[in-house]
Amino acid sequence: MPIRPDLPLEPEFGAPLDPIHPSPDTLNLLALRRSTPVAALAEPGPAAADLDAMLRLAMRVPDHRKLEPWRILIIEGEARNKLGDIFAAARKLRDPDVSDEKLAGEMTLPLRAPVILAVISSPNHHDPKKTPVWEQQLSAGALCQNLLVAANAMGWAAVWITEDPAYDGHVHAALAMTGHEQVAGFIYIGTAKEKPVERQRPTITAKATRWTG
Ligand SMILES: Cc1cc2nc3c(=O)[nH]c(=O)nc-3n(C[C@H](O)[C@H](O)[C@H](O)COP(=O)(O)O)c2cc1C
Repeated sequence: MPIRPDLPLEPEFGAPLDPIHPSPDTLNLLALRRSTPVAALAEPGPAAADLDAMLRLAMRVPDHRKLEPWRILIIEGEARNKLGDIFAAARKLRDPDVSDEKLAGEMTLPLRAPVILAVISSPNHHDPKKTPVWEQQLSAGALCQNLLVAANAMGWAAVWITEDPAYDGHVHAALAMTGHEQVAGFIYIGTAKEKPVERQRPTITAKATRWTG
């Protein structure tokens, strides 16, 4: 059952904060966390107050030089149909011979979950200190992951996907994205119809080596 978390008040600027937060619940979540395949998502989804909390938590993300190089579009309700129309129009432009059946499928993509958060990477190219764009994009990725974790902790199932629409110029224009912006992810959020199963995971030995100079 989804919970409305009793979040601490947002700390004031400059307030001292604990450097550590020992939390078995957090370790448990990280040890067992799994995305829910988008096909297994369904109603209900988070209401406005849950989304506010989720976004507040997710935006507490590392961000070199505090450029806030991202923004989020909340897409829910009827707006999902409008997004579906845009996805279908984009598909038709990419592939003029696409079948009506495939176009209809494209229209229903945003209807797979009650809420979609489109995380837009919005790097600042005018930063006088020239913070690398790559670092700014990493911050957008961290925000996506924070959203997954916050959503799960609040009792919602979620998945981070992109699919073709994330890379389509027609979709970018319809979302009023500027030239430097990219879709970091569409975070689909709802309730799991079925439990996800564990996927293959890398081993530490394959991925981490001790660098000794
Ligand atoms: C940037 C990014 C884009 C992704 N796009 C897709 C996608 O378009 N379609 C898809 O099936 N999975 C996509 N995935 C993978 C899903 O998020 C996948 O279900 C997830 O990585 C499963 O791992 P987890 O259970 O550890 O979260 C994407 C992942 C990332 C990080």
